Amino acid sequence: MTMLRLSHVGKSLGGNAILNDISFDVERGEMVSLLGPSGCGKSTSLRCIAGFEDIDSGEITIAGRVLSTPGRSVAPEHRQLGIVFQNYAVWPHMTVGENVAFGLEVQHLSRAKITERVNEVLDLVGLPAMAQRYPAELSGGQQQRLAIARSLVVQPSVLLFDEPLSNLDARLRARMRGEIRALQQRIGITAIYVTHDKIEAMTMSDRVVIMNHGVIVETGTPRDLFERPRTEFAARFLGAANIWRGVVREGRFHPQGGQSIAIADAKDGPATAMLRPGAITLTGPGPDAWPATVTASTYLGEAFEIVCDCDGLEVQVSIPSWSVSIDPIPGTACHLNIPAAALRLIEADPTNTGEPS
Ligand SMILES: Nc1ncnc2c1ncn2[C@@H]1O[C@H](COP(=O)(O)OP(=O)(O)OP(=O)(O)O)[C@@H](O)[C@H]1O
Ligand SMILES: [Mg+2]
Repeated sequence: MTMLRLSHVGKSLGGNAILNDISFDVERGEMVSLLGPSGCGKSTSLRCIAGFEDIDSGEITIAGRVLSTPGRSVAPEHRQLGIVFQNYAVWPHMTVGENVAFGLEVQHLSRAKITERVNEVLDLVGLPAMAQRYPAELSGGQQQRLAIARSLVVQPSVLLFDEPLSNLDARLRARMRGEIRALQQRIGITAIYVTHDKIEAMTMSDRVVIMNHGVIVETGTPRDLFERPRTEFAARFLGAANIWRGVVREGRFHPQGGQSIAIADAKDGPATAMLRPGAITLTGPGPDAWPATVTASTYLGEAFEIVCDCDGLEVQVSIPSWSVSIDPIPGTACHLNIPAAALRLIEADPTNTGEPS
C-alpha cells in the first residue's frame, strides 16, 4: 500500500525553481532515501512533505489523504509525521524523559501512561535507564537516539530524516546507520531519509531516489542503481565507474580504444557504456583477454585500484589485494577480463565533459 505519494510537485523559492515535477511513492514500511549533491533540493522536498513549505504545483498525499496542493496545506502539527534533523534539536534544559514526553503532553494522557510510553520508546532506541539524565550528559550518538525517540513517541505514520548523522564521527556514523535501519525495520515504520552520502543511502534504504538540480534523475533499489544504472549521473554518483563513449555495431559495443564487447539488445549508433572497476579481473593471456599496461595503482589495504591503458582506452580496475599476484607498478604488462554481462549502456550526462570519474 502506498503510504506517501508526491505527484508532480513543483516549488520555487526566491524566484528560482527549486523542485521540478517531483514524483515518487513510498510504500508502507519502506525506507526511501533522497540522495543527491548539495543544493539539489532534498531538504526542500522534505520540508514540503513536512508542511513547512507550501507547494506551487502538484500534490502530496499520505495514505490517500491530501496534505498539500497549491493554495491548500495541512498544518505541520496535523500531519502525523516524525522529523529527525542533523542538529538533534533536543531541549538542553529538559531531561531525556521530559524531552521524549513533551510530544505527549498535548495529548492529555495520564501521567502513568506517559511514563509508560516514554520508557517503551527509550528502550526501543537503546536508551533505557537514561530518562533522568540531561542531553549534555549523553554522547552524540545517544543524543541522536534521543531525537529519534522524541519523534517516535507520537507514533507518526511516516518518519522523516534530514542528514541525521552528519554531526557524528565516522565510526559512530557507521554504527548509527545500522541502528537506525534495524529500528526502522523492527517497528515497520515508513521512512524517508535525506542524505548526500551514497553509503548511507545504499546501506539504509529499500529504494533510493537520486536527485540533481531539483529533478529526479533515477529511482531504484541500491543494487539496481549500482549495477544497472540507467543514467551516467547515477552511475557516477554511486561509485567509481568506467564511462566509455563509443558506438554499437551489430551487437557489439566499440569504445574509443580497447576492444569491442558483446552487448545484447542494443540499437546500432553512438552510445555510452558503464562498467564498474570491481567487475573487471586480472587474467592470463587468452582469446578474450585484453592486453593492458598499468599506468597507475593505489594500494587501499583490501584492494588495489589500478588504472590501465588498453590500446588507448583508459580502464579503471579494482581488485582485492589477496588476488593480486603481480606487483602492479606503472609499466607492468597484464591482461584484463572484461565481463560483458556487467557492461551497461547508459544515458550520457550532457553536463559531463567525459573526464574519467
Ligand atoms: N528560502 C530560500 N530562498 C531561496 N532559495 C532557497 C531557499 N531555501 C533553499 N534555497 C535554495 O534551494 C536549493 C535547494 O536547497 P535544499 O536545502 O533543498 O538543498 P539540499 O539538497 O538539501 O542540499 P544540502 O545537501 O546542502 O543540504 C539550493 O540552491 C538553495 O540555495
Ligand atoms: Mg539539505
